[in-house]
Amino acid sequence: MENHSSTVIINLKHYRESSSAHAERFIEGFVGMDRSSGVRIIFALNPIDLRLASSFPEFEFYSQHADPVEYGAHTGQFSPQSLLDLGITGTLLNHSEKRISEDALKRTVDISRRCGLNTVVCCENATEASRFAALKPDRIAYEPPELIGGRVSVTTSRPEIISEVVNICNRSGIEAIVGAGVKTPSDYRMSLKLGARGVLIASGIILANDPAKTLSSLIENP
Ligand code: G3P
Repeated sequence: MENHSSTVIINLKHYRESSSAHAERFIEGFVGMDRSSGVRIIFALNPIDLRLASSFPEFEFYSQHADPVEYGAHTGQFSPQSLLDLGITGTLLNHSEKRISEDALKRTVDISRRCGLNTVVCCENATEASRFAALKPDRIAYEPPELIGGRVSVTTSRPEIISEVVNICNRSGIEAIVGAGVKTPSDYRMSLKLGARGVLIASGIILANDPAKTLSSLIENP
């Protein structure tokens, strides 16, 4: 992976404001944003919006999911290779809102690695982080499900688990990122202070009055 000081992955989920008919306009709002802070910005698209990646070559896009398949007779599924072919460079896997079996997770990480698609495997606790580290994804994202979409940030509520997940990831050469309830510059700074390499964020940006301005102020002084 390229060398950035830290990473912000904006999960566009399936909010009306950021998916389907509104996805393109939502992403357009970030065009021209000052990105001199050196923070890597990635948009994680809902599957119905993956084709938008080709309209915004200045941005990096991930998928919110991928299936453990290659091209072929698979109805309603899509392969890691098909994402790459659309200009998508990575995928979230096993998000709390899209949990998959550990067998499917392992197979998807393996297929993704073989074709060169980056993987961010989500975990809900440190025990899962240990198990998923053995799969050797590129990143592990720790998100306590009960804090997702809420007002309390994982960085203030679970600092000791973040440190534990960071240690697990560091031992395996995997980047740790954290998410759930992250909204303010101080949440972001705290995630880095605790050793994470960035955040996974949704409602704090998507539901903000001015998403691009909110993102700018979040990453201004990482
Ligand atoms: O994938 C990001 C996510 O689940 C966190 O959501 O709304 O708490 O930032 P949110």
